Amino acid sequence: MYQLSINQTAFLQNTWQKKPQVFRQAFKHFADPISADELAGLACEEEVASRIVLTTEQGNNWQVLNGPFTDYGQYGEQNWQLLVQALNHWYPDCQPLIEAFRFLPDWRFDDLMASFATPGGGVGPHIDQYDVFIIQGEGRRRWTVGDTGCHQQRGGATTSPLIENFTPIIDEILEPGDMLYIPPGFPHQGFTLTQAMSYSIGFRAPSQQELLSSMADYLIDHNQGQQRFTSTAEPQQPGMVPAAQQQGLLALLSELANAPQLYQPMLGKLLSQNRFELDLCEGETLSAKELQQALQEGAIISRIGGLKVLLLENDSESRLFINGESFAFATADLPHAQTLTNLTSIHSDTALGMLQSEGMCCLLRQLLAQGYYYLADDE
Ligand code: SIN
Ligand code: CO
Repeated sequence: MYQLSINQTAFLQNTWQKKPQVFRQAFKHFADPISADELAGLACEEEVASRIVLTTEQGNNWQVLNGPFTDYGQYGEQNWQLLVQALNHWYPDCQPLIEAFRFLPDWRFDDLMASFATPGGGVGPHIDQYDVFIIQGEGRRRWTVGDTGCHQQRGGATTSPLIENFTPIIDEILEPGDMLYIPPGFPHQGFTLTQAMSYSIGFRAPSQQELLSSMADYLIDHNQGQQRFTSTAEPQQPGMVPAAQQQGLLALLSELANAPQLYQPMLGKLLSQNRFELDLCEGETLSAKELQQALQEGAIISRIGGLKVLLLENDSESRLFINGESFAFATADLPHAQTLTNLTSIHSDTALGMLQSEGMCCLLRQLLAQGYYYLADDE
């Protein structure tokens, strides 16, 4: 169990998405959810997204190697860092750490990235388009954070995520249990003082590009959005596109943003999808009776790591969005659907209550068969 000791109301009001801040002992008696050896083992797996960043002796150049990795001996005792994305998909034991951040909505949550760093290791100065909470596990790392503004890409490169050195507004050493929050756009850099584990809890929101491209996909897939521009007056000059017509054309787009029956399924699909591969279960096909029996024997129904289960407020239909798919339910089952969105593990009593509804029973069996949920022992 991880208890986040910050004033959440004050954080949401004053800090979230506004400014970087260090929280000393955000987690009292913090225990690493994974060991360095286990992390290194995961980075040997093909499906797990991992990278090693090597820093030069001078500390001014960084080389990225993409996983999977087979042998770490060649990297020595210092100046490198291993980073593993979406640890929460592959390592269910880290779920309690994520639960501590569920005061923020699930749709924004991106992943838990874990890092093992040797002294001198770091990824270099960079800017993320994410909100990130960096929690220090074992060891010590020094973090500098600069202000937003115009930051040059390193060496004039256009593709590198690295930027030139910046003037810090925060320069602090994090110890186990300390946490640094950084909103999007603030340059930052971590420098490792002693062998260290750290955990980055990332949150992101879709860009206009992503929203428009999702909307276009949705309209094409469902053969919608056929409306075209019409006008009552035309310009005097044949080569001129009048301002009123420019606005009229773009108004066709804003009409989409005012049509919930179009944008709600698009948003549900987009926001319930994950950027990283999910570790889907094989899928268990159970009859209603078999499921009931398993629950009566004390099994719990668990969600696979990273799965997003969402409801849209004021949705035009009663449906859950799970991993980009929509699942209809009877309006009377809304409280059960809310249980599915809120709980990552559903205990037997609650699940047995859900089985009272035939529709919910069907839905649970379908989710188990698709490998989104699995039956587990109650610990
Ligand atoms: C790191 O742990 O050094 C990288 C994390 C980040 O900068 O977001
Ligand atoms: Co970063």
